[in-house]
Amino acid sequence: MPMKAIAICGSPRADGNTQILLKRCLDHFKSTGFATSYRSVGSELVKPCIACGKCSQMKNRTCVIRDDAFPSIFNEMLDSDIIIVGSPVYFGSATPNLMALLDRAGYVSRANGNLLSRKLGGPLVVARRAGHNFTFAQLVYWFMINDMVVPGSTYWNIAFGRKAGEVTEDEEGVATIDRFAENLLWLAQKLRS
Ligand SMILES: Cc1cc2nc3c(=O)[nH]c(=O)nc-3n(C[C@H](O)[C@H](O)[C@H](O)COP(=O)(O)O)c2cc1C
Repeated sequence: MPMKAIAICGSPRADGNTQILLKRCLDHFKSTGFATSYRSVGSELVKPCIACGKCSQMKNRTCVIRDDAFPSIFNEMLDSDIIIVGSPVYFGSATPNLMALLDRAGYVSRANGNLLSRKLGGPLVVARRAGHNFTFAQLVYWFMINDMVVPGSTYWNIAFGRKAGEVTEDEEGVATIDRFAENLLWLAQKLRS
């Protein structure tokens, strides 16, 4: 069975900078035989966690809110060996839809014995000018508290760009993301052998 990787994009811009970098990572994974999936929550409805605690009571690996994009993306996350997420920086933060998805995914996982434990992955973020590090840290925190394994790269996984496509001009940013993807692959292959 091939290993699986999912990339989840928090940008509403199709063909935007975040999508470009996430798809670049998926191309690395595909070239070594991974099954890959790309999902965007930038313009899809993802309702926020309502702290109802039903996931802890039911323990059936689901969230009671089921009329939005969450269930299908969460199931794909559970099926994946690698989970990467990307967000543009919006006022020094990750986008609300992405955080709504991650809040609920993390809560359902933790209510069911840590379903995300030891999955590999990590975040990447894009901004025009500033706020990268806050947003990168915000997303790394999510991976860490969910018992996941995040490799490093030659810099933090950040890149610069404003207009869609501009990120490709940030050579160091692109090289950092490429190395991050390579390190994920290296780790996945070591763990499998
Ligand atoms: C609502 C909003 C808030 C933004 N806030 C910031 C910010 O805090 N810092 C920054 O450098 N860029 C900010 N930007 C610019 C985006 O991060 C930048 O254009 C990024 O490349 C968009 O990524 P995308 O093409 O994947 O959507 C903001 C853009 C929007 C629409």
